[in-house]
Amino acid sequence: MVPTFRFLIASFLLVIILSPTFAFSNRRHRCEISKPSIPTTKLSAVHHDDNIVTTHHATTSPVINRRKWLYTQSALVSSSFLGTRAYADGTPTESNGDAVIPRKVSTENSVIILGANGGTGRECVSAVLASGRPCYATTRSGSFHYYDYENESSPLRRTNPKLHEDEADVTSLDGLLALVDKINVGAPESSVGAIIFAASASAKGKTPGVNDAFSVDYQGVINAARCCIQRDIPRLVVVSSGAVTRPNSAVYKLLNFVGNGIMEAKIRGEDEVRELYRNRGVIEKGLGYTIVRPGGLTNDPLPLGPSYLEVNQGDDKSGRLSRADVAAICVASLDIDSCWDTTFECYLKDTAKPVDNVGLSNILRLTDPTSYKSGREGTGETWNELLGGLKRDFTA
Ligand SMILES: NC(=O)c1ccc[n+]([C@@H]2O[C@H](COP(=O)([O-])OP(=O)(O)OC[C@H]3O[C@@H](n4cnc5c(N)ncnc54)[C@H](OP(=O)(O)O)[C@@H]3O)[C@@H](O)[C@H]2O)c1
Repeated sequence: MVPTFRFLIASFLLVIILSPTFAFSNRRHRCEISKPSIPTTKLSAVHHDDNIVTTHHATTSPVINRRKWLYTQSALVSSSFLGTRAYADGTPTESNGDAVIPRKVSTENSVIILGANGGTGRECVSAVLASGRPCYATTRSGSFHYYDYENESSPLRRTNPKLHEDEADVTSLDGLLALVDKINVGAPESSVGAIIFAASASAKGKTPGVNDAFSVDYQGVINAARCCIQRDIPRLVVVSSGAVTRPNSAVYKLLNFVGNGIMEAKIRGEDEVRELYRNRGVIEKGLGYTIVRPGGLTNDPLPLGPSYLEVNQGDDKSGRLSRADVAAICVASLDIDSCWDTTFECYLKDTAKPVDNVGLSNILRLTDPTSYKSGREGTGETWNELLGGLKRDFTA
């Protein structure tokens, strides 16, 4: 009943947003520092060779357009560390040509899932176990929802020796560090090799500063990145969202409204992750991240697999896919070097649409893919083919 009601409200809002009054151009929002567009804010940029240092001064009304301010700030932060050739929309800048070798996540290594009781988190637990790795299914309460019914073959059964439950709140960096230390000391032969961030601010009750979008999807992502870097964990995988760099698109507006600023929080979190990992010392250690931006999520129980999927870079296409396929992509990315320090979108091939009309297409469950080509798509029969052509977000 409640989800149906929410769906109707969301559909209504989408129709409103899609009306001509709200029509915006399909221009891509790259980090162009020379064109600040916020009337109440004065921005200045100082160029030092390829680096850009930015400062921000609030000048007039405190009633700032929060969305524009946050978006521009995230874009500026992104520009300042990615250099002039990199874009917050995930448009790749260079091919993966670094001499540094990404550290492997072996099948002995444990993988921590943050937000393991969520829809995608739970699928990530299954996918990690299917890859043969030990899995720590972490939740805020410390209590994972095991599959406790009659199907003793379920990987999510309480008796699976490779499945462990534990407590982790992404708003606490100290808590995350303590969890990793506990696992690494208790089972050094299967030390933590990756963290998959599948947590997100709940659509249910929110307490500001505790489980709101900025505490979870922004500060929580930063905490996860800092934890991985401080504890030499080879890979961080973040489940973000398609359209996250398109504040003028209907789907961004809708999700951001329903999620109380969640899209703003996500792009800022992404940008901070890229900044943290751009550090030369981090790169030389072979530590890296993968940011996965799924389209609209469905609950189809089985992943369809690589041959049904398309990936893209540049955030100009999206679609739909199941949480199970998102989880499969997250886990497959651990084994593929081209996923190191990359940001990419993913969706079922037959649901592909330009970001500006994907919202309506998803609501209507359309399966007539767009003929538009970004030139950065990846497809293939295997995970290696699908993900093997991804470009790194920056060069060292
Ligand atoms: N829905 C879509 O169509 C769509 C589209 C694109 C991207 N996405 C993104 O995909 C991701 C997964 O979405 P989903 O719908 O599968 O997730 P979900 O079911 O909403 O699960 C999110 C999980 O995060 C947990 N969580 C919240 N605050 C936390 C904290 N402080 N520490 C640790 N865990 C915390 C929640 O725990 P509790 O169970 O305790 O509340 C919940 O289990 C999200 O980032 C979402 O924004 C969604």
